[in-house]
Amino acid sequence: MTGIGWCSLPMVIEMSHEGPKHDGDTLGLLRNAHHVAYRCRDAEQTRWFYEDVLGLPLAAALALDEIPGLNEPTPYLHLFFEMGNGDFVAFFDEPQGADPDQFLRAHSFDRHLAFETGSEEELLRWQRHINEKGVTCLGPVDHGFVKSVYMYDPNGLQVEITARTADYDRIMAAEREAARRQLDEWTRRTRDAKVAKFGAEAIDRRSRRAAEGAG
Ligand SMILES: [Fe+2]
Repeated sequence: MTGIGWCSLPMVIEMSHEGPKHDGDTLGLLRNAHHVAYRCRDAEQTRWFYEDVLGLPLAAALALDEIPGLNEPTPYLHLFFEMGNGDFVAFFDEPQGADPDQFLRAHSFDRHLAFETGSEEELLRWQRHINEKGVTCLGPVDHGFVKSVYMYDPNGLQVEITARTADYDRIMAAEREAARRQLDEWTRRTRDAKVAKFGAEAIDRRSRRAAEGAG
C-alpha cells in the first residue's frame, strides 16, 4: 500500500440521513453509543459516584464467572448505568486482573467521558450539586460551541458535563464544512513526525484486504 489514501475496501460510502451505502444497500446509521465501558476499582464506589452523585440509575449488574468465549475462570461484575436517552455507561469490576496503576488519573486526551445537559443554567446547577457532594468539579470552561465542567470519577476517569451554547449550530455547521480540509492540512503538517515515531507502515495500514494486496 502506498500513500495516505482512503480505506481501499471496494465499497461506496455515501453519508446521508439513511446511513452509508454498502454495495447498493443502506447499512443504517450507527445511531448512538449504546454503552461505553471502562474498568473500575470497586463496583460500590463506582455506583456511589454514577448513581448518587450523577443521578444515573444502576440498570444492570451482571455477575459472571468467565469471559464469554474464554474457558478461564474470571469472576467479574459488569455494571451498567443508564443515561437520560437510554444509553449506558458500563464498568467491569474484576479484582483478579486489576492493578492500582490502572486507576491513576488519566490524561483527558487518553480518555474522558462527556455527558450533555440541557442548558448553561443546568450546567452550573450540576457543578454546584457535585461540589456539594464533596467531588471537586472545576470550570466552566468556554469552548465556544459548548461550555463544560470537569471532575474525576473514583477510577481516574475524567468526567465532563457539557452544555451547548447559543452559537452551537452555527459553529458546528462551519466546522463541518471545514473539517476535511483541516484534517488534510493537519496530516500534511504532522506526517513526517509521525512516520519518524511510528513508521509509515503503521500509519498507512487500512483494511485487511489492502494488506492482502486485493484492495
Ligand atoms: Fe470533551
